[in-house]
Amino acid sequence: MPLERSRVKLPKVIGHRGAAEAAPENTLAGFREARRQGAHWVEFDAKLSADNRAFLLHDDDLDRTSNGSGPARLKSWDELRTLDAGAWKSPAFTGEKLPLLAEALALFAELDLSFNLELKPCPGRAVETARLILDEVRRLWPADRPAPLISSFEIACLETARDRAPDLPRGLLLEEHPADWRDLAERLQVVSVNIWDRDVTPEWAGEIKAAGYGLLVYTVNDAARARQLLDWGVDGVFTDAPARILAAVA
Ligand code: G3P
Ligand code: MG
Repeated sequence: MPLERSRVKLPKVIGHRGAAEAAPENTLAGFREARRQGAHWVEFDAKLSADNRAFLLHDDDLDRTSNGSGPARLKSWDELRTLDAGAWKSPAFTGEKLPLLAEALALFAELDLSFNLELKPCPGRAVETARLILDEVRRLWPADRPAPLISSFEIACLETARDRAPDLPRGLLLEEHPADWRDLAERLQVVSVNIWDRDVTPEWAGEIKAAGYGLLVYTVNDAARARQLLDWGVDGVFTDAPARILAAVA
């Protein structure tokens, strides 16, 4: 049985990048919207600026979700903080900023939100991203609050997390069905395996649960599909539309 399994109670519904259908992803407005829709957990993607500030962004590049352009890894925080991360979604969100990790954590404490921090390093920065971000989480997130789930597709991030912050529960993100998933999960001492909706089968879901791991599936925006996955033994789903899925699985 995975070591820290008892330290995290996985929810049925996790707001994906906040509430990405209604509000700009990975922004404070998005987390407020997820909470307004009834979510108690949110997922977000975190990486480092060129000058090692931890902030929230999914893509390697700035173009899709801000008025900036090019690789985020080349920008200092002073440059990143000037960008608009809301107007691309809707004029109503004009002025929304890329959040620092510290700003997101402060909001989660205020809103009583639990979180899944996905380590999404800029290319070539896996180890330092995990090291600096986990140090910051441990410094800023009170130990008496519910433990966050730390996840990544990057094995180097999860190895660093295991070695540097062994007390923080980890999730192994997969976008295929690797033959060695059990070895990976065991070696990385994860509490959950987080898999792509496209890859889920009742058989694989059963194997993951029988091995003692939590099972989360991304990204599920259809209510009937969410119900089916929970019937298969999935613990919870990441969704861009928390209210719709909460209404379906309550
Ligand atoms: O953590 C679940 C999901 O966010 C993983 O994929 O690309 O949306 O970060 P992605
Ligand atoms: Mg993510």
